[in-house]
Amino acid sequence: MAKQSQWKTSTGFILASAGSAIGLGAMWKFPYMAGVNGGGAFLLMFLIFTLLVGLPLLIMEFTVGKMGQTYTTKIYEKLTGKKWLNIIGWNGNLAVFILFGFYSVIGGWIIIYICTVIYHIVTLQSNQIGNLQFEALIGNPWLTIVGQGIFILLTTVIVMLGVEKGLEKASKFMMPLLFIFLILIVLKSLSLDGAMSGLRYILEPRVQDITVEGILLALGQSFFTLSLGTTGMITYASYASKEMTIKTSALSIVAMNILVSILAGLAIFPAISAFGYQPTEGPGLLFIVLPKVFEQMTFGAGFYLIFLILFLFAALTSSISLLELNVSNFTKNDNTKRKRVAVIGSILVFAISIPATLSFSSLSNIQFAAGTIFDNMDFLVSNILMPIGALGTTLVVGQLLDKEALRDYFGRDKFKLFSPWYYLIKFILPIVIVLIFVVQFI
Ligand code: PFF
Repeated sequence: MAKQSQWKTSTGFILASAGSAIGLGAMWKFPYMAGVNGGGAFLLMFLIFTLLVGLPLLIMEFTVGKMGQTYTTKIYEKLTGKKWLNIIGWNGNLAVFILFGFYSVIGGWIIIYICTVIYHIVTLQSNQIGNLQFEALIGNPWLTIVGQGIFILLTTVIVMLGVEKGLEKASKFMMPLLFIFLILIVLKSLSLDGAMSGLRYILEPRVQDITVEGILLALGQSFFTLSLGTTGMITYASYASKEMTIKTSALSIVAMNILVSILAGLAIFPAISAFGYQPTEGPGLLFIVLPKVFEQMTFGAGFYLIFLILFLFAALTSSISLLELNVSNFTKNDNTKRKRVAVIGSILVFAISIPATLSFSSLSNIQFAAGTIFDNMDFLVSNILMPIGALGTTLVVGQLLDKEALRDYFGRDKFKLFSPWYYLIKFILPIVIVLIFVVQFI
């Protein structure tokens, strides 16, 4: 069997896994989910789930990857000797396949916005960016299909180049730049007249806004932003060198994710109230509100363009992890097959992404279960397949793996964190996931 590729440095691993985690989930999905589910109440639930469920699960996925050192449709067998458990890896594979299908829709929107803003700048209409019409742009089926096609193509080309050559180096300066831009937008948003009621909406946890649905969606959001349950993080950890530090890597990824989610909330909600929009706009929220904020800035169109490019970069570092998972499972780490598998996988993803994109135009009236086809794909992944994947891995780790071997990989520390973590994974989190999972069907 071919040798498993490795990151050259442990920084490479952290950058890549942070790149996978920080993407559309924190910046696009968090504000729209919070807007629909009570603002501050959603933020509070998201924080609780991310720290108490997401962080231990991320540590678990890193541990499994580091122990198993192979692709995830094999790793469960390698660790336990039970072949049928590889089904957890296949579940993750299915999850990322569907996820990439609807993720690329939003990636495509970013590309459409980039082109539109460039057009405005070139034709000297930069002062008009606040008038970008979301419905007109995204309601155009052909335009959106081309946009997502370009997004999938970009992802494919990057994955075909191989894991070490990815965007690892670029993210060293792109990520900090993205932080700076987010802070800039937050400051501008907060300075707008009427910003305070939006700020209160996202920061004040009102008990009456807590709903069962909101709780489920907040958990799904934690899974989504941390890329949990798809085994994507297991894959990245399996590429990492032995020196990778599991706990500090996981903690820094969780902290960055929370920070970006909060910054996105602080950027969007004050502007929503200032411009008289509703927080319940849905998936278009960020695309509707941000051009208005940038319009208020000197050189706003230029800054908006830079922001969109950074945003696209963040989305691409996540989408490459989606494709990478499929590639590593189907090539079984044989790099000679990498190009072929990446291309075939992308063509299939493109096919399933078309009904997702048409959910915002010609197929918008097809509504069932969680809403449109797009909403159902998202729900299926974030609230069903990801929790099932995470549950499967908790059961393997807690019930089948040797405790002392786990302790070695987990690493020793002065806070003696291994035992609390282990008992959380062994007893508490499987019950929490099952309970939440069952509640959503009642
Ligand atoms: N965590 C990514 C985001 O928030 O945009 C999405 C994601 C990437 C989920 C990779 C799952 C995954 F395996």
